[in-house]
Amino acid sequence: MSTAISPTAYNYKVVRQFAIMTVVWGILGMGLGVFIASQLVWPELNLGLEWTTFGRLRPLHTNLVIFAFGGCALFGTSYYVVQRTCQTRLISDSLAAFSFWGWQAVIIGAIITLPLGYTTSKEYAELELPLAILLAIVWVVYAIVFFGTITKRKTKHIYVGNWFYGAFILVTAMLHIVNHASLPVSFFKSYSAYAGATDAMIQWWYGHNAVGFFLTTGFLGMMYYFVPKQAERPIYSYRLSIVHFWALITLYIWAGPHHLHYTALPDWAQSLGMAMSIILLAPSWGGMINGMMTLSGAWHKLRTDPILRFLVVSLAFYGMSTFEGPMMAIKTVNALSHYTDWTIGHVHAGALGWVAMISIGAMYHMIPKVYGQKQMYSTGLINVHFWLATIGTVLYIASMWVNGITQGLMWRAINDDGTLTYSFVEALQASHPGFIVRALGGAIFASGMLFMAYNVFRTVRASNPAEAEAASKISVVGAH
Ligand code: HEM
Ligand code: HEM
Repeated sequence: MSTAISPTAYNYKVVRQFAIMTVVWGILGMGLGVFIASQLVWPELNLGLEWTTFGRLRPLHTNLVIFAFGGCALFGTSYYVVQRTCQTRLISDSLAAFSFWGWQAVIIGAIITLPLGYTTSKEYAELELPLAILLAIVWVVYAIVFFGTITKRKTKHIYVGNWFYGAFILVTAMLHIVNHASLPVSFFKSYSAYAGATDAMIQWWYGHNAVGFFLTTGFLGMMYYFVPKQAERPIYSYRLSIVHFWALITLYIWAGPHHLHYTALPDWAQSLGMAMSIILLAPSWGGMINGMMTLSGAWHKLRTDPILRFLVVSLAFYGMSTFEGPMMAIKTVNALSHYTDWTIGHVHAGALGWVAMISIGAMYHMIPKVYGQKQMYSTGLINVHFWLATIGTVLYIASMWVNGITQGLMWRAINDDGTLTYSFVEALQASHPGFIVRALGGAIFASGMLFMAYNVFRTVRASNPAEAEAASKISVVGAH
């Protein structure tokens, strides 16, 4: 198909590409999650090969779900939202295309290098320097496309969703570049420019804000557009959204030390991180409430609209994980939870319940729009997906709470004579049932993604290029 590019049309091509890859990487990343969860139940699944061991596939799982699945969802929706709320086409089609292909290249690079054992060993920043540099270049291009589009907007205001996307883009660039400063000793091996506790602090400043800006702020941008859109109601409070924005971005950046409690990090820094984490509860819940209250007067829609259910339940999990996080940041609580499956449960309450569910809801809203269709092929299948995702998430996090608290209590149990009551292996044996339930919950969640793939496939197949082209025309009245 070759259609002339009209300046009065949105660039939906890149949005479509990112949307499809969100589903593809979602299936692969979560499928791999199920595989490594199964390795913890049946260690034989390591297959006796170095490339397929848990230690090598685990970082591949995190890279695929966070950067490939989550990243494509963020790129795709931000390009969609920025165009519609600014009522203008992306500033450059070729730069947008570069950001798509460059991002896929980074992901393919991760799929090749991580199983081969090339890693910086810094969590969520594992990619070695050549790939990290490519990622930085793609990110700068992304920033140019996003902010460039905002500068040529036809609207007076910058819609609040774009503020969140914008902060996510800027802060991620800063984190990535600072944390990746390193000295290469060969093409695929480099060592951090920082040493000891400083290195740890920089890494967890990065790590926590990867959570705060990549896994939270970007998805809040999504929330501020897709929840009001799907509920057909204006956002509950525009004023609250501004307070929410500034409070969230000023506080998040200080909370990193809660990942380093009881380590060589100075005690004052740990306490500061703990205090900031507790205060963070306020803006987090402010945002959650703003999203939830947008449904005032529209709650009945939940009965019939599974897309809205995805969006609202994701906010409920967001609220839950941002209550749990500050509690876990309290040093005495962290003394029990750290190193245990409680952390893994918390992670996936955020990752499955919040990040994945809001992305899935946003995709179900957006995909028919960018393909010129009224709605997804099957609402019934969206509903099936919703229940699989919800049940899968609940099984995952409940099993990890039980495991985490069991592990924490067994590790610290001491006999009268000061010896440990349980060996590590006994705590591991006690965790086995929980591992089985987690693998099952994960498999249920991942199977929902297959229903999504089929539904998306049928929706895309029903669309023809002329319809898709017509859908991308910019109509100024009620454009977003
Ligand atoms: C079907 C779904 C999923 C399954 C079965 C699954 C399974 C797992 C397993 C088994 C681990 C390793 C836990 C350990 O070391 O004990 C893990 C880690 C992790 N997963 Fe998933 N996962 C899934 C989906 C996701 C999604 C969608 C995301 C993000 C959007 C995600 C983010 C993470 C992160 C960040 C970690 C590292 C946690 C940490 O180091 O504390 N996962 N996952
Ligand atoms: C107010 C909000 C939050 C606070 C204060 C918070 C706090 C915490 C704390 C204290 C830990 C455990 C650190 C440790 O013992 O090692 C943790 C781990 C983690 N949290 Fe949160 N959390 C919050 C929200 C979230 C959300 C919404 C997500 C996901 C979308 C998330 C993802 C993670 C991840 C991935 C880890 C594991 C990091 C690692 O060790 O690899 N958190 N968080």
